[in-house]
Amino acid sequence: MGNLNEADFWDSVKWEQDRIIILEQTKLPLETVFEELTVVEQVWEAIRQLKVRGAPVIGITAAYGLYLAVMNSEAENFEQFWTELKQHSDYLASSRPTAVNLFWALARMESCAQRAKGLPINKIKELLLEEAHLIKAENTEICSNIAKYALPLIKDGMGILTHCNAGSIATATKYGTALAPIYLAHEQGLRLKVFADETRPLNQGSRLTTWELQKAGIDVTLICDNMAAAVMAQGKIQAVFVGCDRVARNGDAANKIGTYGVAILAKEHGIPFYVAAPTSTIDISIATGKEIRIEERYADEVTCGLGKRTAPLDVKVYNPAFDVTPAKYITAIITEKGIIEPPFESKIVELMQKTTQSI
Ligand code: MRU
Repeated sequence: MGNLNEADFWDSVKWEQDRIIILEQTKLPLETVFEELTVVEQVWEAIRQLKVRGAPVIGITAAYGLYLAVMNSEAENFEQFWTELKQHSDYLASSRPTAVNLFWALARMESCAQRAKGLPINKIKELLLEEAHLIKAENTEICSNIAKYALPLIKDGMGILTHCNAGSIATATKYGTALAPIYLAHEQGLRLKVFADETRPLNQGSRLTTWELQKAGIDVTLICDNMAAAVMAQGKIQAVFVGCDRVARNGDAANKIGTYGVAILAKEHGIPFYVAAPTSTIDISIATGKEIRIEERYADEVTCGLGKRTAPLDVKVYNPAFDVTPAKYITAIITEKGIIEPPFESKIVELMQKTTQSI
């Protein structure tokens, strides 16, 4: 679709008439390209290939994707419609395994359809589109609230390290999650020095985080992943903020591969390590991070990272896309409902019980 609407670059997934428009994140930072998705297979592929990525955006895209899949359904009764919807939902759920927002958003769409059982099929379709819009709109409020709760953790002049990208384009809203307090502090005139880990193998830190922070006029410095320890030892980092893809009941948090190492380094250097997590990323059905399914991705992401081969042909490759940071390394989890400090489990359960009641 070309370089349209660059001013709204942060709106990385939206519904327009009868299609989904995404910011094609694999092309960044060289090209700001918006792509349209008109069939559910393209939605699956966009999620799988990380054209859309970041836990909240994966959820929002899947919700719109499910509506897209059934909007022209010719089902004559609810049972037929439900069979089609469930098939498409299971298909979309198979695109990526780790970020729980994907399953959470699809479950919300399914229960929206179930609640509407008995209504005409066209009305159910309308309600599904409204539900997808609502998931997106709520996310904007969630990120603003994360920013508000996390702001007091930031002081003027601080050095902040972040890993991967948990910013605007991962959430389709201005603030993001891990970057939310940084954006808000910047708006309020605080001077910060952000360090972005490159985040190999797919370089979300160098391609996306530095790109969006630069656009916002925030002081950002790129480092390779293996520089974090030295930068901490030099006293340049006073806090670490990261996003996450799934938080277990005990507070263990899965995020982009490399996050666990950063957390250990932060502990060793006495630096607070904060995880920003919308409640849609908390999965109280699992007791610990050991139960989180970690996505393994293609070998060529490691051997030909930037289009150039950097390893011998046929070398064996292990490419887990996420790791789990044990709760003991996490100083606090920042949600849209407030900050949770250790011990996490009882507080997480209480928070989630209240949240489920309010949906
Ligand atoms: O593989 P990605 O790029 O989807 O991984 C993204 C992350 O790990 C983010 O930190 C996480 O999803 C939070 S985004 C608000």
